[in-house]
Amino acid sequence: MSHSEKETVRVGVIGGGLMGKEAASAFGRWFVLNDMPVNAELTAVADLSEPALDWFRQVPTVTHLSTDYHQLLSDPNVDVIYCAIPHHLHEQVYCDILDAGKDLLAEKPFGIDLGAARRIVEKIESTGRFVRCSSEFPFMPGPKRVIDYVNSGKLGKVIEIVSAFHHASDLNPDKAINWKRQVKFCGEIGVMGDLGMHVAHIPLRLGWKPKRVYAQLSQIWSERPDGKGGMAPCDTWDNALIHGEIDLDGQENVPIRWETKRLSPGATNTWFIEVLGTDGGVRFSTAEPKSLWTFNRDGNTQTWTREDLGFGVPFGTITGGIFEVGFPDILQQMWAAFLCERAGALDGRFGCATPEEAVASHEVFAAALESHREAKAVWVG
Ligand SMILES: NC(=O)c1ccc[n+]([C@@H]2O[C@H](COP(=O)([O-])OP(=O)(O)OC[C@H]3O[C@@H](n4cnc5c(N)ncnc54)[C@H](O)[C@@H]3O)[C@@H](O)[C@H]2O)c1
Repeated sequence: MSHSEKETVRVGVIGGGLMGKEAASAFGRWFVLNDMPVNAELTAVADLSEPALDWFRQVPTVTHLSTDYHQLLSDPNVDVIYCAIPHHLHEQVYCDILDAGKDLLAEKPFGIDLGAARRIVEKIESTGRFVRCSSEFPFMPGPKRVIDYVNSGKLGKVIEIVSAFHHASDLNPDKAINWKRQVKFCGEIGVMGDLGMHVAHIPLRLGWKPKRVYAQLSQIWSERPDGKGGMAPCDTWDNALIHGEIDLDGQENVPIRWETKRLSPGATNTWFIEVLGTDGGVRFSTAEPKSLWTFNRDGNTQTWTREDLGFGVPFGTITGGIFEVGFPDILQQMWAAFLCERAGALDGRFGCATPEEAVASHEVFAAALESHREAKAVWVG
């Protein structure tokens, strides 16, 4: 199909902050993707902040800028909305988007809490719109290889699974407060709302939803500079260790740990997954983005092997296979997955997190809150 024959999906962004700008970057070089069933362009942006909107004036395809997101909802030149705003606004704005008849790539955590996530799913069901939740790390070459390894049967008996996302900038007590560090905007789940969907996506897709959890939640700094010379309460959980159990074929109560940390010394944005078995194992970390580590046991001989990964992304691009993958690439890959699936052309490739997976992640976070509060293991609802 030639470029001109393809449908062009017109995307509107609500929330032109950190992530809204990344979406502009993904669409700005959409032409690097090979064999896409659709073209895509960013046409409209809404943000309360004029300076945020100003940044988008340099994007040639953007013709509509507004401080009122309702203006995007009534814009006939918008087919799909990407919504990247603070968590306390997710439920209202996502439901308004769906009522307006637009499809949606929603940011995590998909509602401020479990109740909000469930109400968003009810709205999806009543409006019949196509909706997915943002989670980009599975679109790196490494995680795909981890999934293939798990499905290869090489693990033997599974010993444990760790899925983790670590940050470190909050180690510094002089870092100013922002909405992500306040319960009223970020949610009672705190760091789990910020980082949790990222650690939940692959385990949930593999059918590894913890059936019971014991959680350790910690708050290390309870106040931060307010940016105006004073201090402000910082009342969210900083770090969360969720120790869970899953049942596998022929194995019960296999340990699975979801780690989300804002205070992890030295980690800028380190996402990793590790699956260990008696015969084999596999590990990938964004701290070492070119490396896939696999373990093999042959009798008493135990060997970890490092393989150098290239540009083996699920949605092929013009980039040479020996080159390295970065954050902007995987965001574009996530968008390719979203728009291919929307067009019925995912063709067996890994898809974006579903609304059901977002709700399942919230069920685990809600159980983690209860576990910590009661100091006991809690069955996941
Ligand atoms: N997928 C990822 O890797 C990733 C990374 C960071 C954040 N996020 C998620 O993205 C969302 C936004 O986070 P961010 O880091 O971009 O935040 P941000 O603070 O950088 O940007 C949020 C933007 O939303 C705007 N906004 C607030 N209320 C609005 C309203 N009513 N209408 C229109 N605009 C409004 C703000 O002015 C701001 O520009 C959150 O859900 C967050 O969890 C995802």
